[in-house]
Amino acid sequence: MGNFPNLFKPITIGNFEAQNRILHEPTDISSSHADGSVSTLDIHHHAEIAKGGVGIVIVGATSPDGETGRPTVNSLVADNDRYIPGLARLSDGIHRYGAKCAVQLMHPGRQAAIPRYNTMSTNDMIIKVPWSAGHEVIYATAEEQGKRARAMTIEEIIDMIDKFSDAAWRVQQAGFDMVQLHGAHGYLIAQFMSPYTNRRTDRFGGSFENRMRFPLAIIDQIHKKCGYDFPVSIRYSVDEWIEGGRSLEESIEVAKLFEQAGVALLDLSQCITETPGAGFDPMYYEQGWTMYASEAIKKVVKIPVVNSHTLRDPEYCDRVIAEGKTDMVGLSRQLLADPYWPVKAYSGKVKEIRKCISCLTGCWQDSMLAKKHIACAVNPAVGDMRYEHIKTAEKPMNIAVVGGGPAGMEAARLSTIRGHRVVIFEKTGELGGAILGCCMTPGKIKMKWYTDWIRFQIDKLKVEVKLNHEPALEELKKYDVVVNATGASSYIPEVVGMKKGFISPFEEVIACPKATCEFYPGDRKPKKLGERVVVWGDHFAAADTAAYLASIGRDVTIVTENGQFGSGIEPVHMYVLRKRFDQTDAEALSSKPFKYPVKVRTGSSIYAVDKSRVVIADGSFNKDELEADDIVSCLVRPNDGLYKKLKSAGLKVVNLGDSVSVRNLHYAVKEGANFGLTIDGNQIYNGNRFVDEVSLEVQSQF
Ligand SMILES: Cc1cc2nc3c(=O)[nH]c(=O)nc-3n(C[C@H](O)[C@H](O)[C@H](O)COP(=O)(O)O)c2cc1C
Ligand code: SF4
Repeated sequence: MGNFPNLFKPITIGNFEAQNRILHEPTDISSSHADGSVSTLDIHHHAEIAKGGVGIVIVGATSPDGETGRPTVNSLVADNDRYIPGLARLSDGIHRYGAKCAVQLMHPGRQAAIPRYNTMSTNDMIIKVPWSAGHEVIYATAEEQGKRARAMTIEEIIDMIDKFSDAAWRVQQAGFDMVQLHGAHGYLIAQFMSPYTNRRTDRFGGSFENRMRFPLAIIDQIHKKCGYDFPVSIRYSVDEWIEGGRSLEESIEVAKLFEQAGVALLDLSQCITETPGAGFDPMYYEQGWTMYASEAIKKVVKIPVVNSHTLRDPEYCDRVIAEGKTDMVGLSRQLLADPYWPVKAYSGKVKEIRKCISCLTGCWQDSMLAKKHIACAVNPAVGDMRYEHIKTAEKPMNIAVVGGGPAGMEAARLSTIRGHRVVIFEKTGELGGAILGCCMTPGKIKMKWYTDWIRFQIDKLKVEVKLNHEPALEELKKYDVVVNATGASSYIPEVVGMKKGFISPFEEVIACPKATCEFYPGDRKPKKLGERVVVWGDHFAAADTAAYLASIGRDVTIVTENGQFGSGIEPVHMYVLRKRFDQTDAEALSSKPFKYPVKVRTGSSIYAVDKSRVVIADGSFNKDELEADDIVSCLVRPNDGLYKKLKSAGLKVVNLGDSVSVRNLHYAVKEGANFGLTIDGNQIYNGNRFVDEVSLEVQSQF
């Protein structure tokens, strides 16, 4: 008998039984071929999730009409019979490992990435939502214009009902056990259902009955084309978190209506695209914040209900099922971060679970928003099929990794797994690097989950770690290769009237002093600052420092040269952060501790300091003054000094992560992992990298 018996209890949905209560929520991985047909990566990705042991895999947004609406540039399409063979290979790839499967049909309507313009919706509207993959096309110098969407004609609506139900028939032909309709997150079906977006005055708009006509007509047509026993699920947002939008009260009526219409499984979600915090929960959201929704809806329906959002712990998921708060738990990003979550839970290997930290950098900012395929900040294997065939090194090497942050640790982890001998040199007293400061930032404790996971792996693999140790050149010469993963640090530029100690590097301010962590060495001493603090810079360093200082009651002003603060930060985090700094409520985060007043001076830089006066100047040298007791520098640049020194001394050295250029966790992990995945003693060093897969003919010349 495995662990977590409630989670692993079978469940009947319509005409089939799933082996457990864990459901992979639909996740668009934008990895299909350009025409929307199933790719090898689509099959590999979903098969990995099935191998990990989920009960049901729901494949993400698949368009019933690729020409008028795809939510991301490489999302799946099912608008023609020629897509059936690819979809059949996908369902086979999932069934092979014992999971049941479904496809989510979704038309993005106004939120289409394809086409870019002339998108259709319930009514004419202009929308501005730069955090959505389908919305704004942001050119480097463009103002946020918004995009125009147009009202669908009655003929187009009737035609779309037909297209949805035809697509469902194709899904059934391809061997899937169920079809799901996407009625959440402000996409086309949600645009009809929501009183906020649907301003039509004909029979498809206005009253509750009229707004529900479009999804109910689709369900009816699917039943007619696929038979009444082919299970249909619908996903919809219980709360849209916007004035004039749907909330729990109406969502209870929606649930009753769907049950009457023959829906087999209700999949509850949150948000409309205007309120992305609640739908693409950034780090600030706590596990269980959506549980009220299924608790309420389960009281009025008999069909199974799945709840989702920020579910990460098997213990918690098992408990809410035992307590009858939901019938199933839905995981999306958690199965990107670790597709083996179910089997690890079942076998009691909970500490091995690599938890999703809700950062949205890999799976949203650097993939969907950048119009690329899926990735994950903590799991480099997502979207990269090379990780399926990790091989032991043919010629193991002695590797020195300088810097114990994410890039260095990931390089060490994979190199060790492949049989290399690795030593990590870390100049401070513990492993973790830049992400350690996140323990101090309100709502960002999830970063520590990753830090703890990778430190645990390094420990388990018995990688040699030399703390408080900055290796000299002579010492490093003993190794076959040196990895420079020295990260980035803040610097203090020349400022008129600068005096010692008035400007502090942010690293001295947000070092967590709490001795509650198993890896804590006890030597962190954060600097105490005065009442009024100017935080100088942008990006996460400035955002985190400002949030931390505001949370401990400091009067904080951010000074940034950028036109808008935080434009490089992952957009959903930026959106919620700006609301918090403005002291307005971000959706579903109305609790007091989430509001920290932080003033922001954009388009400005610090020009001079004089006692407690800080002179700032804008781009046209217009000056202004701020009163401050301290300034914290969050201006960050790569630490590439050692790399240059080792290179000029003739060592084989590879530079990775923030010491190349300052980016985010996703790039640090990806570059570290790629090194570990490929490095081998029989490779050629091209002066920058070790090159794998060089032909035998070329190798013979070295
Ligand atoms: C990259 C990405 C793609 C997503 N694609 C879909 C989708 O196709 N359909 C859908 O209903 N939700 C989609 N979502 C939302 C997730 O299913 C889920 O509701 C959300 O990420 C919060 O739950 P989680 O914390 O389990 O990830 C997507 C989310 C992400 C991050
Ligand atoms: S990129 Fe971040 S939010 Fe997305 S799945 Fe990975 S850890 Fe989770």
